[in-house]
Amino acid sequence: MIYLDNSATTKPKKEILDAFVKANEQFYANPASLHQMGNAAEDLLEKARAQIAGLLNMKHVVFTSGGTESNNLAIFGTAHAYQSRGKHIITAETEHPSVLNSLKVLEEQGFEITRLPVDRFGRLSLNELKNALRSDTILVSLMHVNNEIGTTHPIADIARLLKNTRTFFHVDGVQSIGKLSFDQTAMPDLLTMSAHKIHGLKGSGVLAFNDVELKAILAGGGQEAGLRSGTVSVPHAAALAKALRLAEANPAHKKWNNDLREFFWSYPNIMVVSPEDGAPHILSVAAKGIKGEILVSGMQKEGIIVSTSSACSSKSREASHVIEAIGVPRDYKDGVIRISFGAFTTQQDIRHFKKAFERVNRLIKGV
Ligand SMILES: Cc1ncc(COP(=O)(O)O)c(C=O)c1O
Repeated sequence: MIYLDNSATTKPKKEILDAFVKANEQFYANPASLHQMGNAAEDLLEKARAQIAGLLNMKHVVFTSGGTESNNLAIFGTAHAYQSRGKHIITAETEHPSVLNSLKVLEEQGFEITRLPVDRFGRLSLNELKNALRSDTILVSLMHVNNEIGTTHPIADIARLLKNTRTFFHVDGVQSIGKLSFDQTAMPDLLTMSAHKIHGLKGSGVLAFNDVELKAILAGGGQEAGLRSGTVSVPHAAALAKALRLAEANPAHKKWNNDLREFFWSYPNIMVVSPEDGAPHILSVAAKGIKGEILVSGMQKEGIIVSTSSACSSKSREASHVIEAIGVPRDYKDGVIRISFGAFTTQQDIRHFKKAFERVNRLIKGV
């Protein structure tokens, strides 16, 4: 099988699995224990934390169960800590459900949420963001790379805009960290990442942050400086540090993205949904009058794994909120498929994809 669904999750790299197994074999003690073995586990945990903080250029790192939990901690943690200062939060319509649904809960608790609209390619207007800012805005939460269509928000520009204000900036970097170069000259206040999108392990992520006082969302033993109770998984922490060390942007992704765009342009019934200046590892296209599931299943028969829009919405029959927000025309919006590259993708995979797509398209059209 040729796996082109790397935005849903990636295959773990052997070195990362080895780091995980080794840490489980040698550092299985509880890092909070006072004995020698606990201390050794704690040393490894703190080494992983320091490495991750350094690579992300952030001061503090809390280990979590993944992107969803990190987004929840960033949003609830900031909102509940700073609600006396204000109850207004800004986001965009195309954010991940772990952000949008957390904000929905806050709305029910009396917070006011501004959801910025986006254009046909999922892009925000910086002016609209500026105009939405108020003296009681405590948080702006935006993703760096959209998981469904690859649109990138201008994170560094927004970080600069918010730098001397009392509004914190949270970035969901799940689809960008380790895949795109990050402009580290202007960092957000809070940054979410998830290990399984960069060939690490599922169930592992971090929330990195600078000068923000967060309120914990879990009650318990007070691990992770009180921010994330529960016995910390040192093997997951070590494996995540390894994943981040090994992650690198692949310049071939841009070439393949352009190559596939050109390929799809030759089909009158296919529309490229992703913006040209989006993330190189994600390409979303839509077929007119054909269901995305039919294409996904046809491609699977050819040995190629792609997905409909996002993994979270791909089992639902509805067009995703992102596809709705960018206004994909009615006769195309059920036919969206997403092709996403990872570290194991090769030039040959792209060649096979094109051949398989030609056959599947002919079959569907009955030509
Ligand atoms: C942009 C984005 N944010 C958050 C998440 C959630 O991450 P996790 O699966 O680690 O909870 C995902 C995963 O699909 C994502 O793509």
